[in-house]
Amino acid sequence: MDFTNKVIVITGGCQGIGKETALEFGRLKGNVNIFDINLKEADKISKEICSHGAESHAYQVDVTNRSSISKAIKDVFSHYGRIDILVNSAGIVNTKPFTDVTENDWDQVMNVNLRGVFYTCHEIFPIMVRQKYGKILNIASIAGKKGGGFFGNTVYGASKAGVIGLTKGLAREGGPYGIHVNAICPGPTDTGMIKDLNESARKTLINNIPLRKFAKPRDIANAILFLTSDLASHISGEITDVDGGALLD
Ligand SMILES: NC(=O)c1ccc[n+]([C@@H]2O[C@H](COP(=O)([O-])OP(=O)(O)OC[C@H]3O[C@@H](n4cnc5c(N)ncnc54)[C@H](O)[C@@H]3O)[C@@H](O)[C@H]2O)c1
Repeated sequence: MDFTNKVIVITGGCQGIGKETALEFGRLKGNVNIFDINLKEADKISKEICSHGAESHAYQVDVTNRSSISKAIKDVFSHYGRIDILVNSAGIVNTKPFTDVTENDWDQVMNVNLRGVFYTCHEIFPIMVRQKYGKILNIASIAGKKGGGFFGNTVYGASKAGVIGLTKGLAREGGPYGIHVNAICPGPTDTGMIKDLNESARKTLINNIPLRKFAKPRDIANAILFLTSDLASHISGEITDVDGGALLD
């Protein structure tokens, strides 16, 4: 895979799956634009990418805030004159049982996980239509297919089901313009998102995964790289599980 001259925007690119993916895009010579709420960390990753000879910029973007997204996208577009790849990795989790969930929890999860994906797609899709080329990759979750997970996660699952629906609709609308839109559904992945699980919860999860292990961020990044590369030349509207078989009965 080669991303030379590809202009990439990745949200949530300073930690976990997004960080691993951003670094790998850099190793494969892409121009990596990291959009994250945490500018300090994003800057660090960006500098690491540049130290390997690729180009990278960090932007402080809160994906729930449309004007911060528009401003960063304008900057990227005025610098490169195109945007080839969008990866939506920013996300938050909520594991409360449904009866404990507040409206505020609902708003937070929906705003980051679903509205944030809507905003970035809504800003970048017209650019891709004009250039008649684009790859959009949204990170959903197996929770979006199962309707939550082993420990509640109902609201989180609903947000990710929304991402799956958005992905399929955009694939249909973008196809005639050469825009590929796919989603990945990771299973449990060793990142900050699941660091607070206790030992017994980890065991329960692992026993439900045929490969008997959590994914590493690199496992998910590998699938993202393939689906956003030109090797995936006829794949669109695909919702790909990267879960060690967790969704099998
Ligand atoms: N880790 C898992 O087990 C798992 C499983 C399935 C799906 N996912 C999904 O994968 C994606 C990446 O998750 P991760 O495990 O790498 O999580 P993570 O917590 O390690 O990283 C999330 C990143 O998103 C950024 N972020 C959070 N809110 C933001 C906002 N409002 N604006 C901009 N950036 C923001 C954070 O700063 C961080 O860099 C998420 O969408 C998550 O829902 C994760």
